[in-house]
Amino acid sequence: MKDIAKTISNNNMFSLRINQVLDFLKTKNVVLEKLNAIEIFGGVGQNDIAVAKSVKTFEIWEIDGKLKPKLEKKFPNAKIEICNSIERLSQYQNTSKFDLIMIDNPISVFGTGKNSSEYCEHFDMIKNVGKLIGNEAIVIFLVNKKPFFFNKLKKKNELWRKRRQEFYGNINTNDMSIPFLTSFYTELFRNMGLTTIFTNSISRHDPHLDYFIFMLRKNDIQYGDSLKTFDWISLDPLFSRNQSDNF
Ligand SMILES: C[S@@+](CC[C@H](N)C(=O)[O-])C[C@H]1O[C@@H](n2cnc3c(N)ncnc32)[C@H](O)[C@@H]1O
Repeated sequence: MKDIAKTISNNNMFSLRINQVLDFLKTKNVVLEKLNAIEIFGGVGQNDIAVAKSVKTFEIWEIDGKLKPKLEKKFPNAKIEICNSIERLSQYQNTSKFDLIMIDNPISVFGTGKNSSEYCEHFDMIKNVGKLIGNEAIVIFLVNKKPFFFNKLKKKNELWRKRRQEFYGNINTNDMSIPFLTSFYTELFRNMGLTTIFTNSISRHDPHLDYFIFMLRKNDIQYGDSLKTFDWISLDPLFSRNQSDNF
């Protein structure tokens, strides 16, 4: 476990991976310099800096006010908002829209208070991501295919497992395949009125975390702006259908 913690705290490895994401977007003829981008979970911007340097405008949301001076120093041209991003997005009625949306959420369950865990991964905000999209946007988020559970965090792990099961449905959420997850999120976005134009995944920390990249376009017909987990179609047929479609 110590080794994993050491590896995932390796700055260079992460920035290298985000550069791979940017390189992939270039192969899709995405002109990064024209994009208005946002990071929903700012932290100290370790991964975001490469993105911020490549795009037209960059906005950062982060809950921890103590990080603001660091962020201001690192991102002198960015708009920085100290807020609860999940809450903010659920209330969002702003006309500001973005072409590139980064969701670098905390791993596991987390909350606004010390020891609170009302949220989990990107599960509580992804249903509202459409509010940030005008006509189309690229959404980049972290997916934990194969979580590692620190022994010390038994209670937290239990809740994390439960939230994952509720979100992904009746499958083994400890070891999810990329084809399954690609189908799952394509379907999730489709239900939100967002068509997938292209998608890819790039490993951030093998075999656990991947960047999932979705280029999404808003449909004329909207199916409502919120999803409940029990609205989602059964995952098994979804998986086999997309496999047979050569997805
Ligand atoms: C994985 S880190 C972000 C890493 C960062 N994007 C980078 O490039 O280094 C997650 C961040 O989300 C912040 N966070 C946690 N809950 C939040 C919330 N409800 N709203 C906004 N930010 C939150 C944490 O304070 C933490 O800094």
